[in-house]
Amino acid sequence: MKVIAFGASSSKSSINRKLATYAAGLLSDADVEILDLNDFEMPLFSEDKEKELGHPELAHAFLNKIGESEAIIISFAEHNGSYSAAYKNLFDWCSRINLKVFQNKPVVMLATSPGLGGAGRVLAAATTSAPYFDADLKGSLSIPSFYDNFDVEAGCLNDSVLSSQLVSVINSLT
Ligand SMILES: Cc1cc2nc3c(=O)[nH]c(=O)nc-3n(C[C@H](O)[C@H](O)[C@H](O)COP(=O)(O)O)c2cc1C
Repeated sequence: MKVIAFGASSSKSSINRKLATYAAGLLSDADVEILDLNDFEMPLFSEDKEKELGHPELAHAFLNKIGESEAIIISFAEHNGSYSAAYKNLFDWCSRINLKVFQNKPVVMLATSPGLGGAGRVLAAATTSAPYFDADLKGSLSIPSFYDNFDVEAGCLNDSVLSSQLVSVINSLT
């Protein structure tokens, strides 16, 4: 199974990328590609920019990554209760080419933050809107208090309850 996974963040030390990478590693026999949103940086979307530039090649490239995949794992960073600017900008550009951004692919949506909220607000926004963007949403999970529950050195969750919840959500992709 061809899987793409990414943290919806442009931070070089993104905890959501760490979580998405760990989650993708739980799939056996998967061909996993970890995407970096920095490779899809585009001008700040506006309808004026769209008229001026058309649709950037990088937006097509990101949609093609989704189109070529058989499953998608996203872990959302929460910035002021919502998406990171990097993800929102990429998503806005992509949605102008194809509103069915997720192209009916099986998707697992995760989120984490250092706080107790575990980026639950952005995760709620993403899961609520998922059907509108043609995601076949298989499951979602928020991981609170990232640095308490994830061993950064080892690159894995160290809380057994969260760990089994994550395994169960990820297995829903198979
Ligand atoms: C501008 C900004 C706003 C933030 N707002 C929130 C927030 O609303 N909720 C939250 O849990 N964490 C918030 N944080 C902290 C992030 O959860 C934290 O930086 C986390 O590492 C982001 O995920 P990332 O490492 O994958 O980029 C915010 C951080 C920044 C820089």
